[in-house]
Amino acid sequence: MKPIAHAIAGATAMLIIAGFWTSTLVSELFLGHAAVAAVKHAIVDGLFLLVPFMAAAGGSGFALGKTRKGWLLDRKKKRMAIIGANGLLVMIPAAIFLNGNAAAGEFDAAFYAVQIVELIVGVVQLILMGMNFHDGIKLAGRLRPRAN
Ligand code: HEM
Repeated sequence: MKPIAHAIAGATAMLIIAGFWTSTLVSELFLGHAAVAAVKHAIVDGLFLLVPFMAAAGGSGFALGKTRKGWLLDRKKKRMAIIGANGLLVMIPAAIFLNGNAAAGEFDAAFYAVQIVELIVGVVQLILMGMNFHDGIKLAGRLRPRAN
């Protein structure tokens, strides 16, 4: 895959996560339970979009990195491992749990505890992906290293 396709896949995955995060916060803070349940349902549907983009970003990144070495690449690989683990072990199970509980009208302490964890880990994901974006631009030689 060409670097531009890799960058678009990564950026799209970031936008999808930012959309999940914002719609969750807006519905929780300003809207009622029905809207929260609708958002939770849409997020589970949206996973079918997010997961392929994320896999494409990671897969193409590792493919692009095959012929290269260096600390920038090592950092990106380590971050991607954390992003993947967070996604599979926290974000996807949380989205499914929250959707199930919201659909059943169970907005209890467990719901809000998981909701807070999901929001926090969502920010972590966005930060890690943003760092990979930044290092990607450096790897592509589009950012000059600082003079000092
Ligand atoms: C969500 C995760 C990721 C995002 C958002 C991301 C983003 C980017 C961006 C924006 C570029 C610059 C492309 C350009 O300007 O042409 C790039 C380049 C690159 N990325 Fe990633 N990346 C991610 C994951 C990875 C991973 C896991 C690896 C490999 C281990 C990787 C390896 C590379 C390489 C080698 C380049 C340079 C390509 C070249 O110009 O030859 N990326 N990435």
